[in-house]
Amino acid sequence: MMDKFWNGRQVLVTGADGFIGSHLVERLVSEGANVRAFTFYNSWNSIGWLSDISQQSLKNIEIVSGDIRDDGCVADACQRCEIIFHLSSLIAIPYSYKATRAYVDTNVVGALNVLQAGRQSDSLERIIHTSTSEVYGTAQFVPISEDHPLSGQSPYSASKIGADMIAESFYRSFDMPVVTARPFNTFGPRQTARAVIPTIAAQLLFGCKELTLGALTPTRDFNFVTDTAGGLIALGSCKEAEGQVVNIGTGEEWSIEQTARLLMQVCENEVEIKSHVERKRPEKSEVNRLLADADRLKSLTGWAPQVKFKDGLEITASWIRENLQHFDPDRYTI
Ligand SMILES: NC(=O)c1ccc[n+]([C@@H]2O[C@H](COP(=O)([O-])OP(=O)(O)OC[C@H]3O[C@@H](n4cnc5c(N)ncnc54)[C@H](O)[C@@H]3O)[C@@H](O)[C@H]2O)c1
Repeated sequence: MMDKFWNGRQVLVTGADGFIGSHLVERLVSEGANVRAFTFYNSWNSIGWLSDISQQSLKNIEIVSGDIRDDGCVADACQRCEIIFHLSSLIAIPYSYKATRAYVDTNVVGALNVLQAGRQSDSLERIIHTSTSEVYGTAQFVPISEDHPLSGQSPYSASKIGADMIAESFYRSFDMPVVTARPFNTFGPRQTARAVIPTIAAQLLFGCKELTLGALTPTRDFNFVTDTAGGLIALGSCKEAEGQVVNIGTGEEWSIEQTARLLMQVCENEVEIKSHVERKRPEKSEVNRLLADADRLKSLTGWAPQVKFKDGLEITASWIRENLQHFDPDRYTI
């Protein structure tokens, strides 16, 4: 359904070259927005997953490449934008054990750059800052509402908590129109093997004889990517959400093992599961349980997830089947 709010609106999406960002860009274009897509500069001219969207959508967006850590190029990218969706981040948890400083620079300083640029802009109407359910750590109660305590169980989570606090402080100190969107785990086409669902599906589709995974008992609340993008868009047009943190989640909980069993049915390959120590997080760093309370999002915007978990797994598996060149079944990617 077209939402008139977006028609002709100047929108910036950072992290537009990424998994969620590319779906968000597609949806914004279909809503009639004028989208500027901020992509991570590289010398091989890659625009990431934006190369996967239709030529028609691609023609309608302005691509600006740069580095979120650089305040000058972020300020240029924000010029004349009314709504800013900030998604660019380093997001892999295992890599955050190795390159922790890079996570602080990208996720904390990057968010600061976007907020500063927004603050200096005359055109800004709203910033949607993207957080993550990882900031809650293992659930202390379920479902997890926005009042749940925060816990830095990984450097990734800690850097996102830092970014969220900077965003909150800009709302409180400078009356900036900031919404903090907090998606729970997201899956779907264009997600790479660093995430659990593509890792499982790719191994099964390559015809593995046994499935190699990390911990099997943690549970997650999995959003299909178009539903996460829909939640971000709903918040983008919601003035009442300013100054608030808002969860995006389904309210359903699946363990990694249950997810693997469902994917075995979808991929028609029933095998033994082997839990590999190399793929496990350090014990105190593992987030054992995540389950969203998304009532705030529902009452603010009327959002509801559209894609059932099993249907989302079918769509994801068929995308992976058609894109096996992006996957290597013998390599553990982080
Ligand atoms: N995928 C999930 O399950 C999930 C869940 C909750 C929240 N999120 C949040 O959603 C956002 C998008 O995540 P995603 O899954 O699409 O990840 P992604 O890695 O696919 O996208 C992130 C993008 O950020 C860009 N980026 C990284 N460093 C940059 C830099 N220095 N300068 C400019 N761009 C840079 C990358 O090019 C990448 O395309 C992130 O903020 C993440 O924390 C993701």
